[in-house]
This record gives sequence, structure tokens and C-alpha cells, in this order.
Amino acid sequence: MALSIMTLAYCMLLFSDNVVEGGSIGLNWGRMANQRLIPSMVVDLFLQNGIREVKVFSASENVMKAFSGSGIGLTIAIPNESLHDINSTDLARYWIRTKVTKFVNMNVDVKYVNVGADPFSSSSWNQTYFDAVDVLRFIQDALNEIGYGEKTKATIPHHTDVLKPNHTKPSEAEFRDDIKEKMIESLQILQENHSPFVVDMFPIQFVKQNNVDIEFAFVDGHSTFFFEDDNGLIYTNAFDFMYDSFLWAMKKAGAPDLKLVVGQIGWPTDGYPDANVTNAERFFKSLLPRVTSNKGTPLRPGMPIDIYIHSLSDENKMKIKFGAFQRHWGIYRNDGEPKFKIDLSGQGRDIYPTAAKGVTYMPKRWCIFNGDTSNLTKVKYAFEQACMVGDCTSLSPGGSCSHLDFNQNVSYAFNRFFQTKSQKEKDDPCEFDGLGKVVPDNPSTGSCIFPVEVLAAESIDTGSSMGERVATISKLVMLLPFLLIFLAFIQDRVNF
Ligand SMILES: *[C@@H]1O[C@H](CO)[C@@H](O)[C@H](O)[C@H]1NC(C)=O
Ligand SMILES: *[C@@H]1O[C@H](CO)[C@@H](O)[C@H](O)[C@H]1NC(C)=O
Ligand SMILES: *[C@@H]1O[C@H](CO)[C@@H](O)[C@H](O)[C@H]1NC(C)=O
Ligand SMILES: *[C@@H]1O[C@H](CO)[C@@H](O)[C@H](O)[C@H]1NC(C)=O
Ligand SMILES: *[C@@H]1O[C@H](CO)[C@@H](O)[C@H](O)[C@H]1NC(C)=O
Ligand SMILES: *[C@@H]1O[C@H](CO)[C@@H](O)[C@H](O)[C@H]1NC(C)=O
Ligand SMILES: *[C@@H]1O[C@H](CO)[C@@H](O)[C@H](O)[C@H]1NC(C)=O
Repeated sequence: MALSIMTLAYCMLLFSDNVVEGGSIGLNWGRMANQRLIPSMVVDLFLQNGIREVKVFSASENVMKAFSGSGIGLTIAIPNESLHDINSTDLARYWIRTKVTKFVNMNVDVKYVNVGADPFSSSSWNQTYFDAVDVLRFIQDALNEIGYGEKTKATIPHHTDVLKPNHTKPSEAEFRDDIKEKMIESLQILQENHSPFVVDMFPIQFVKQNNVDIEFAFVDGHSTFFFEDDNGLIYTNAFDFMYDSFLWAMKKAGAPDLKLVVGQIGWPTDGYPDANVTNAERFFKSLLPRVTSNKGTPLRPGMPIDIYIHSLSDENKMKIKFGAFQRHWGIYRNDGEPKFKIDLSGQGRDIYPTAAKGVTYMPKRWCIFNGDTSNLTKVKYAFEQACMVGDCTSLSPGGSCSHLDFNQNVSYAFNRFFQTKSQKEKDDPCEFDGLGKVVPDNPSTGSCIFPVEVLAAESIDTGSSMGERVATISKLVMLLPFLLIFLAFIQDRVNF
């Protein structure tokens, strides 16, 4: 008996060892939305789904506090706009004091500080953030000074456009000439501090840009299209191709052994051709087990890869410079309901993740167009006004509501405006110059959902009581192997 418990305990230790060594699946939590869930509710959602790594895009106080005692490894970010302000070690010390130390003292586990949001991306040339590398050094120095350096690493996230475009083999990849010096300098800082290089990649974008078969965007090996590199390595999917391209670029820039973390990877579900829930589900179904299996990539077989899924939920206030899809990266809807099946533990099971608990919705009321088309100028004007405030991206070509007729289009827009304005009677957000009416019946049709928003409840946020409870339970689970060994030990004593 004692022996079997001992064996069991040993097996569990081995198992938990594997979990620690394996590639990890984290989640990005963007908050550019009108109505947001309470931070503690979201942290609870992470814990319920076994998510141990999370990235937030700013270090706001209520969000940081919600992670207190959760045991979740947190990545926080310095936004692009703040980079110019941190131009000395002194200012970096101040930033660390107010954004890191303060929360570490509240038992928040800050793992990474992201310096900027893809600051070397070529997408907006009139804004360059070359000083990101100086900030990287200032921030890491400040972390090292106070003894945080082992645990908290500064790094810079990069978009795939830091590579020269149009390479057809990973071995051809290298950093753009205009940023090469800066990349080499930053890689040295990362190496000195054993910090990872971080890259954001979107396979759906890769196949569109390179005009290759959509199948190449999935990791499940159904693509008949492939790339062969000079070294004989075969690439059957965009993930391996992009990952190894970065390994080559890093090698050429003097950092052949640096850890490479995928800071953002995902599949939008709306507002873009092939962006739908079927494809998103399929994408993650093969990608996540791939991560936990530690299969690595052709160039680094067997190496664990950490990824961060982009993103937790849709963000209806996101800028849409590159397209409507930018608001639809969520694996959850804005109300914390999962959009599709995804096994966040990486075992590839056909399961929905846990939904957010305790969400409060606004009343089930919708605002629609009353159908009066006698003055079309007026209707079109009202439609445009509604879409300037409400999120109409689902109406765009390829979107989930692109099949609506004109009147339904207008209704959709009116409702988005109405919900964004929190249905507030006194402002009459369903007036539209006499064109709107409030109805109790759900006008959703087919794939097109007319949402009722959640009650924006952030003001009643009290911190993280729920988060702490679940964290305690998961800590107990982690201790289980030791408890079993202890039990086995006791039993041995009794037997003798
Ligand atoms: C740092 O930034 C501040 C404010 O932008 C500016 O006044 C100061 O001159 C800068 N210092 C250095 C060393 O560039
Ligand atoms: C940060 O700056 C880069 C370079 O201009 C830009 O491409 C990127 O989109 C910016 N990130 C955000 C979140 O605005
Ligand atoms: C960058 O350029 C775009 C268009 O070229 C312009 O709309 C935007 O205002 C510019 N941003 C800044 C900060 O100059
Ligand atoms: C890369 O390929 C795209 C699409 O084929 C093309 O539009 C673009 O000009 C190319 N860029 C360079 C730098 O060759
Ligand atoms: C999603 O797009 C694929 C094509 O990429 C298509 O086969 C599939 O039917 C679509 N699913 C939905 C729900 O529209
Ligand atoms: C239609 O509506 C517009 C804007 O409200 C108004 O300026 C215009 O006079 C109206 N036209 C007619 C024919 O009533
Ligand atoms: C509905 O609105 C979208 C977005 O403005 C537009 O692309 C589409 O053509 C409209 N459909 C009709 C039938 O008016």
C-alpha cells in the first residue's frame, strides 16, 4: 500500500515536473472595450481555465491588484507613448517603483516588462521609437539594482515586419537594415540578462501577405503547399516558418541561443476573409497541443515554446487602421462567453473553456430601425452617426453581419450605439431623429448577433477576493504530490 502511494506520488512529481518544463500557454488581456468585466472576475476566469501566464497592455492599478495572490506570472507593458518619458535610469527606477515594486509587495508575480508595443514595426513610419532599446537597458538595470533581475525580465515585443519582407526560406531571414544596429544592441542586453526575445505572429496574415494557400496557416499538417530550406528542412505551416525565420535572424545578429517567446498569436473571428469561429477553433486545436508536446520547430526540435494567445476577448474600441478584424481577436465575447471550443490546457480536447461567472447584463432590450425610409438621407446620416460611436465592424465584407439587408444594417448600427451608450433612457440613445425604436425581442439573425452589453461594473470592483480563493485551491493541488509522499512516509512509520 505504502509503496503504491509512494509510486503514485512519484509519478505525480514527474508529471508536475513536465508541466513546469513544458511550453506554456498564456493569454493576452486587452481592455480597449466600452463595457469591461470586473478585473477580479477575469482573473478568476484565468484560474478556472488553468492559465498561469497573462499579459496586460498597461499597468493600471485595479487590474494589477486583481492578480494579487493569484500565482499568475504577469507581463506588464510600457506603452509606446511613454517610452520617450523614461529617458534615464532614475526615471526607470521611478517607473519600477510605482508599477512593479508596489504590486510585487501585494504578492503580484511580475515576470516580464514589455518595453513598448512593437516599437520597431514598420507599419507607422512617422512614429519611431528607437529609444526603446535605451529604455530596455534602463528598466533592466533598475530591476537588477533592487534584486528583481532573476525573476523579472525586460524585453521588447516585435511584429514580424522587423524582418526584411518576402524571404522565401527561413534561412534567408534577417532584420531590416534600418533597425539592424538597434536589434543587435537589444539582443546583447537580452543575452546578458537571460531574457527572451519576443515576437508577435499572425499566420492568417502571413498567408494573405504571401498569397499562399490558407491551409498553410494551420499547424495540423493538411497543407499540400510547403517551403523547403537549403538545409533540407521542410516547412508545412506558417508558425514553424515564422518561428524559425526569427531564429535565423537572431543568429545572424549574434544571438543564436536566445529563448524565443511568441508574445501574440491568434485568429480573428470576424471582419476579414477566413476569419470565423470554425477556422479559429481549428487553428488552436492543433497549435495548443503542439506547444505542450514540446515538439519544437524544425530548427529547434524538442525545445519548449511559450506562447501567449491573442486575445482574451473582443475589443470594440480598438483602432481599425488595418481592418475590422482588429476588434475580433477574442476567444471570448466581450461578455465572457467563449466563442468556440478551445482546450486551454493544450490537450486538444473538444471542450469549451469556462465562461466568466457572475456577469451582469443590461436589460434584454434592443434598439432597431423603425423602417421609415421616406428620407434616405436622414437614415444614412443616422446610420453613420451610430457607427461612429458603436462598433459596426461585423457589417464589413467577410464579417458575421455582412449578409444583412439595408434596413437590418441600420438596425444593427442603432443597436450597437444604444448598447454602447448603456441603454441610458435619459440620453435617449434610440431616438435617431425619430427613426429608432426599442424592442424586447432579439433581432439577431443567423451568424449575426445583436448584442446586449454587460453592465459596466468596474466601479464596484473590490480587488481579488475570488482570485485569491481559487489560487489557494490550485496551490493545494500543486502541493498534492508532497502531501502524498508525506502520507506514504507516515504509513511506513505505522507499518513498522
Ligand atoms: C528626458 O525627457 C524630458 C522630458 O521629455 C526632457 O526634458 C529631458 O531633457 C530628457 N532628458 C534626456 C537626458 O534626454
Ligand atoms: C507602437 O509603435 C509602432 C511603431 O510606430 C507601431 O507600429 C505600433 O502599432 C504601436 N503600438 C501601438 C499599440 O500603438
Ligand atoms: C502619422 O501619419 C498619418 C498619415 O500619414 C497621420 O494621420 C497621423 O496624424 C500621423 N501621426 C503623427 C503623430 O504625426
Ligand atoms: C513583397 O511582396 C509583396 C506581395 O507580393 C509586394 O507587394 C511587395 O512590394 C514586396 N516587397 C518587397 C520589398 O519586395
Ligand atoms: C469559415 O471559413 C471557412 C473558409 O475559410 C469555411 O469553410 C467555413 O464554412 C466558415 N465557417 C463559418 C461558420 O462561416
Ligand atoms: C431629409 O433629412 C435631412 C436631414 O435630416 C433634411 O436636411 C432634409 O430636409 C430631409 N429631406 C426631406 C425631403 O424631408
Ligand atoms: C451595410 O453596411 C456595410 C458597412 O458600412 C456596407 O459595407 C454594406 O454594403 C451595407 N449593406 C447594405 C445592404 O447596405
